[in-house]
Formats: sequence, C-alpha cells, structure tokens
Amino acid sequence: MWGLDRESKKPLYQQIADHIERRISFGEFPPGSLLPSERKLAEQIGVNRSTVVQAFAELRSLGIIESRSGSGTRVSQFKWGASPKHTPNWNRYAQGGSFLPNLPFLRRIREALSQDPSLVDFASGELAADLAPTSEISEIMSSHQYASYLGYDNPQGYIPLRQALVRYLAEYRGLQATESSILITSGSQQSLFLITQCLLSPGDAVAIEDPSYYYSLPMFQSAGLRIFRLPVDQDGMRLEEIRGLYKKHRIKMIFTNPNFQNPTGTLLADERRHQLLQTASELGLPIIEDDPYSLTDYEGLPRMPLKSIDTSGSVIYIGSFSKIAASGLRIGWMVAPNSVVLRLADARQQMDFGLSVIPQQVAAQFLESDFFEPHLSRLRTNLMYKRDLLIEALRKELPGEIQFHIPKGGHHLWCKLSEPVNDAKLLEAAIRNGVVFVPGSVYGSDAGFVRFTFARAKSECIGQGIAGFARALHSLRN
Ligand SMILES: Cc1ncc(COP(=O)(O)O)c(C=O)c1O
Repeated sequence: MWGLDRESKKPLYQQIADHIERRISFGEFPPGSLLPSERKLAEQIGVNRSTVVQAFAELRSLGIIESRSGSGTRVSQFKWGASPKHTPNWNRYAQGGSFLPNLPFLRRIREALSQDPSLVDFASGELAADLAPTSEISEIMSSHQYASYLGYDNPQGYIPLRQALVRYLAEYRGLQATESSILITSGSQQSLFLITQCLLSPGDAVAIEDPSYYYSLPMFQSAGLRIFRLPVDQDGMRLEEIRGLYKKHRIKMIFTNPNFQNPTGTLLADERRHQLLQTASELGLPIIEDDPYSLTDYEGLPRMPLKSIDTSGSVIYIGSFSKIAASGLRIGWMVAPNSVVLRLADARQQMDFGLSVIPQQVAAQFLESDFFEPHLSRLRTNLMYKRDLLIEALRKELPGEIQFHIPKGGHHLWCKLSEPVNDAKLLEAAIRNGVVFVPGSVYGSDAGFVRFTFARAKSECIGQGIAGFARALHSLRN
C-alpha cells in the first residue's frame, strides 16, 4: 500500500506526481481516462489540495495529463507508453548500426592496458616516448607563431603542410607530387577509411596480403567488401593469384604495405614490384600502397615506394607521421589523382569539416626543420637497438621454441611458435604474467603466430616482458 514518506527529502507534491505517473504507466489509468479530482485525491492521501494541484501541474508540464475546464483532468492520449521513465534500450542501439566493432582480441588488449598500464606493451604499433621527437616538437610549438584565425581549414589540408610534403616526397620518397594531388588525413587509417567508403561499394572484391594489417580492420567488412588474400613469404606478397582473382572475382583493388610490412616485417622484392605494377597496368587495377614504415630502414637505405616507379598511374600512395614521429599528432597524407583527392576531401568535409589546423602546422614546421633528419637517423639506430634486445631476450628465454626472420626496418617481429597453443589462452596467460602482444590470428594467420612490436616498450622492460611471455607459454604447456 502506497503512502507518503514525510521524512523524505523529496517534496510531497513530487512523491504524489511520481505515484500517479507510476499508476498511469502500469495501466491503472489508460490513455484518455479521467483522474480523480484534486479535492478527492487530497482527501484520500491526506494532504492539502494545493499539494495535489502542484503535483498535477508537474504531470501536465511533462505532457502526461491534460486538464480542460469543465471536463476534469485526463491521462494524455499521445503520451501513453512514452513516459519519461521508459529509457531507450541503449545496449541494443550500441550493438546496432552498420559499423562493426573492433576485433575482440584488440579490445581485450586495450582493456588490459588501460586496467594495468605497467604491462609490458609489445602490442601497440607506435613509438615509445623516448623514440618520439618530443623535445623537438615542444621546441617548435613554443617558438612558432600559430595562425591567429582558427576557422575551418582547407578541406584538402593546410596548404603550407601540403607544400612541405611536396618537398619531402621528392627528397625522401622519390615522388613528384603536387599540392593538388595531396590530401592530408588523420593518419593512414583515415586514408584507408575514405578509400573503402568512397571509392568502393558494398559487394566489391579486394585483395589484401596474408597475413595483413588490413585483416585486423573490421572497417573492410563494415564497407561490405569481399576480401581475398595473397600470401606473403620472405620476399613480400606473392603475385601468382592476382590474375585468377581478377578473372574470377573481378577484384577492384589491391592493398599492400610493401616496406617492412605489418605484421611480417618483410620487404617486397624488386622483381615483384615491377611485376605487380605491370600486372596492375595490364588489368587497369588500382594499387593502394600503404607506406608508413619505409623511413625506418635501420641501415638508412632508401627503400623507395612502388609509386616512385609507377609509370602508368596505378598507385595511390599513403604515408603517415605515426611510425616515424608521433602517432598522436594524427597526421597522414595521400597522393592520388586530383579527382580522387577532391572526392575524398568532399566526403571528409561531410564527416567532420576537416582536420584541426594546429597539428598540421606543427607537422609542417617539423618536416621543414633542422630537427627532422637527425631525428630519423636517431630513430633508426634506436629501433634497431630495441629489435636486438627483443631478439636477444627471445633467444635466451625461448631457445628452439620460436622462429622468426630478422626484419631490417619497421616496428614488428613476426614469430612462429614451434608448437602452437590456443591464441586466447596465450593472451590471457601473458596478461597474467605482465605482458601483452598481438596473436597472429588478428592478422589472419593460423594459431601459433605472434606479433611482437618492439618500438613501444621501454628498452629496460623488453627482457622482463619476454620472460613473462615465456612463463605464460610454458604455463600452457605444462
Ligand atoms: C600498415 C599500416 N597502415 C596504417 C596504419 C595506421 O596508422 P596511422 O593511422 O596512425 O597512420 C598502421 C598502424 O599500425 C599500419 O601498420
């Protein structure tokens, strides 16, 4: 039996309004039905009439009841069933939509890292703080005058950054680009997103490398693409199946990461580069060349992009600051025919009105500064040092239990376990032992492969991290 709680902090009129609302939503008073008069209710409840008047006023303001002079107070017709207490089913909404969530292993790794930041991180594909040009960037930021007007920027990207990239691409990447052929993006990831959403349609077939970073991106499935895989060996992507895939499935694009590929660290061999371009130009097949790692060649060799030898205009080139400077700046770029650049800039404008101009200014300054070249050479030396620490630790902790090819650049070491174990169990055991890595199946490989990223972990933690991984592996074998 309901009664007023006179000790409660909730005012009496509010308690009465809540009570009437509850009775309405339980169906005791259907839509359009007449409520007892204010006087009668006041008597029943044992309060002043003015308290009930106030409660009715509250319900009227929410649209739950309506009063007309001469015909009393009735339950509102159209509000029935839509009482403010009927919370939408947000979980159902959160699981809906056409954009797929990240892969469960990647979500688990992110969750583990946020719960325990002391885990040794062999999973995140980015530079550790001591490899990033942190002091150089802060010096640039403190000495540079930023634009005083912060309006929406050019949809293709900040013009001085595009100009700096024209010079950078010619000097470092052997590419003759122009300002109008460059689109600045929020990392390579946005280039991939724009390409999959705007240049392809649901049902289109594309080829990716196997294993491949792209396999880890549900964005390809979200775009409704059919994915076919081209195996990667020591010399990069194998090309034999391209013509067959084209004939049978009409593949519309090939996505490749030819320099220090993620996850295998391989370089596409020179003969294969020429052969790939030849095949693409015969079939009129576009190639998306994703090239975030080539400047990390530890010996400083100029690993030139496919695009630099692309005489038939088959290649869209994607670059990024993430793997060579700072992933948090979120600066990437695409070099593509002007019609493509304009289309993608227009789409991006519809999504977010373009990038923030400030990181673009910082990136332009950094590229043009005297800091850039010395930073790159320090980065290469330090990455090689971390790679060697990782290899030394693996040889010490897991002799004969793990195989790998030694990469000559990039951030990743791709390993095969001599005896495969269950990926999910291995990841959980590793987390319990203070370390995270990415299971190979995330990149489409069979169980028994592991990707260790050595760029992110602190040098002094690499040995301890691999010892933890070895304990995890052994705990599953015993
Ligand atoms: C091959 C490849 N492409 C693209 C990306 C996305 O990088 P970002 O968007 O930070 O440039 C990554 C990141 O790991 C990558 O390895």
